[in-house]
Amino acid sequence: MKHYLSINDLENLQEAVKEAIAIKENPHQLKTIGNQKTVCLLFFNNSLRTRLSTQKAAMNLGMQVTVMNFGSEGWQLEFEDGTIMDQGKSEHIKEAAQVVSQFADIVAIRAFAGLIDKEKDEAELVLNGFRNYASIPVVNMESSVTHPLQALADAITLEENKTKEKPKVVLSWAPHPKALPHAVANSFVEMMKLQDAEFVITHPEGYELNPKITKGCTIVHDQEKALENANFVYVKNWSSYSDYGEILSQDKKWMMTKEKLGNAKFMHCLPVRRNVVVEDAVLDSNQSLVIEQANNRTYSVQLVLKRILEKL
Ligand code: CP
Repeated sequence: MKHYLSINDLENLQEAVKEAIAIKENPHQLKTIGNQKTVCLLFFNNSLRTRLSTQKAAMNLGMQVTVMNFGSEGWQLEFEDGTIMDQGKSEHIKEAAQVVSQFADIVAIRAFAGLIDKEKDEAELVLNGFRNYASIPVVNMESSVTHPLQALADAITLEENKTKEKPKVVLSWAPHPKALPHAVANSFVEMMKLQDAEFVITHPEGYELNPKITKGCTIVHDQEKALENANFVYVKNWSSYSDYGEILSQDKKWMMTKEKLGNAKFMHCLPVRRNVVVEDAVLDSNQSLVIEQANNRTYSVQLVLKRILEKL
């Protein structure tokens, strides 16, 4: 694998999940594969899980790790070609990406959607800027549109917890006071389309995700109906895609409760707002898989780094 920008960069999801579970059983089995190799983590946005799990995975492989909060510490980047740079932006992506390539063997990028300009967000200026101008492999630690490391961790968690060959998995929208990006939901949908499962998406009208991503998926606007006989319920807020970045509803009836969850397992990528997105009784129950999902972030990224290192 050269880059990891999307869940579809894994040739075979099922094989990747099996390999990640084997890595989890013995995380130090490849502790020299990354000797004398450096991964540089560039954060344009905040993180807890992605930052710590990526550092841990890289260290498990014997790599050196450099981390920079680019959003607050780096020069403001220009992405347009041919711009006269006489305003606020000090450095062009062309130089920045090539310079980072002098100091690292792999670069991992987190750069969220701004949720103001759909076209600009979908152009993935930061991620694609690094992919176009860096001379080293690029890993997506959550971009404007996707979060494939989270989706792989979620696939590992589903595999470890499923009790039937073809489980019913529901992706349910939940209310949130802030406008959130679509990346986690998008990558979860892309990952579920590669699974042998009954997959249902439920959300209020107006919260349809990008139809190119959800093409072929079952979408139900009645949450109660969607949740019937679910084995896994993945809860996530996202802002409107059609009214780009808008909050159209804060309807508390969409919050996940123990009663609505029934016997299903609860999943969320975290961070999560208690008693807004999901009630305490769910998170504090043994039906919640959120800590397992967070733990599996290490093995998700370890699998990705290993596969890239093998091709360096
Ligand atoms: N789920 C996730 O990516 O967590 P962080 O934003 O804390 O990295």
